[in-house]
Amino acid sequence: MSFWSKVMDRSIVFSFDKTGYKRHAKEFIAGEAESALTGKTVLITGCNSGIGYACVEQLLRRDAKVIMVCRSKERGERARTRLVAETTNPNIELRLADMADVDQVNALADGISDPLDGLIHNAGNLIHKKRMASCGVEYITALHLVGPHLLTTRLKPNLVASGSAQAARIIFVSSGGMYTQRLNCDQLFDPTGRYDGVRHYAHTKRGQVVLANALHRAWSREGLSVHAMHPGWVDTPAVRRSIPTFATLTSPILRNPAQGADTLSWLAGGPSAKIDGEFGFWFDRMRVPMHLKKSTKSVQDDGVSLLDRLEGLIHQ
Ligand SMILES: NC(=O)c1ccc[n+]([C@@H]2O[C@H](COP(=O)([O-])OP(=O)(O)OC[C@H]3O[C@@H](n4cnc5c(N)ncnc54)[C@H](OP(=O)(O)O)[C@@H]3O)[C@@H](O)[C@H]2O)c1
Repeated sequence: MSFWSKVMDRSIVFSFDKTGYKRHAKEFIAGEAESALTGKTVLITGCNSGIGYACVEQLLRRDAKVIMVCRSKERGERARTRLVAETTNPNIELRLADMADVDQVNALADGISDPLDGLIHNAGNLIHKKRMASCGVEYITALHLVGPHLLTTRLKPNLVASGSAQAARIIFVSSGGMYTQRLNCDQLFDPTGRYDGVRHYAHTKRGQVVLANALHRAWSREGLSVHAMHPGWVDTPAVRRSIPTFATLTSPILRNPAQGADTLSWLAGGPSAKIDGEFGFWFDRMRVPMHLKKSTKSVQDDGVSLLDRLEGLIHQ
């Protein structure tokens, strides 16, 4: 990467925005995100809109089979119909689950018998008023961490059994906002004091990166490759609904959903030599640092406390 490109990346704005995507895309290797994924099955959550929808579209165009997990039957079916029409690939199933509800996640896992080559945790949200989920932890933590960890654990046999030459990939869609947060498990599961939705969202996204790294360390010898990525700033319904002022101010420079999904679909089907082996926190097909400043480093970054808490919750 050139000196000027590194300077632009440090600005954050001209890295996370669409000009950053276009600059980074000049380094992409032609063909890496176009190879056929015939015979591969990827399950992805939260994909009736935005980045998830664009990722499904990219995977279907490469001839993968996709299992979409949505919480609304109506929105899921509408998206499925459009995706089949747009890609002419009919290999797409819709399953329903609220990813913050452990009973629904268990029911979802009970119904999946396919061997899986990929599992993408994309469902996400940001709220401004604290809510608790039925499992007894804060709602966004349940959505971004408890539900995904339960689903990953329940589907591990399907991923290991895929029998593909390439490691099965588990990918968490985190956020660049996580760079602002230091992991503190007590606050993560039950934030105290005034609830700051933006801050808590970013904290859960830090948790996803720590969790992915810990799972990769634990499972990579079993043929599983666990990663996290962030999509940059993308124009999606979630951004317009949850942070409208940011969406209005940045609207001319936001990425489109296809640009936001590029690294995600690349990770799901990209080259083993580049992706498997070491854990990665990815952005625009590059491994990027997990911290940008010392103050966000925590003794809990090894993921031990986080895994203990999650295991306790999914087995209660
Ligand atoms: N857009 C950005 O700039 C940006 C930046 C960093 C990270 N991200 C992350 O990217 C991911 C996708 O977000 P997006 O921006 O593409 O927004 P989006 O279009 O609103 O997509 C979010 C998806 O998650 C689903 N979802 C929300 N709560 C759910 C639940 N409880 N159970 C199951 N599904 C649920 C939504 O379904 P409904 O339609 O039913 O609500 C929707 O399909 C999220 O994890 C987000 O945190 C986005």
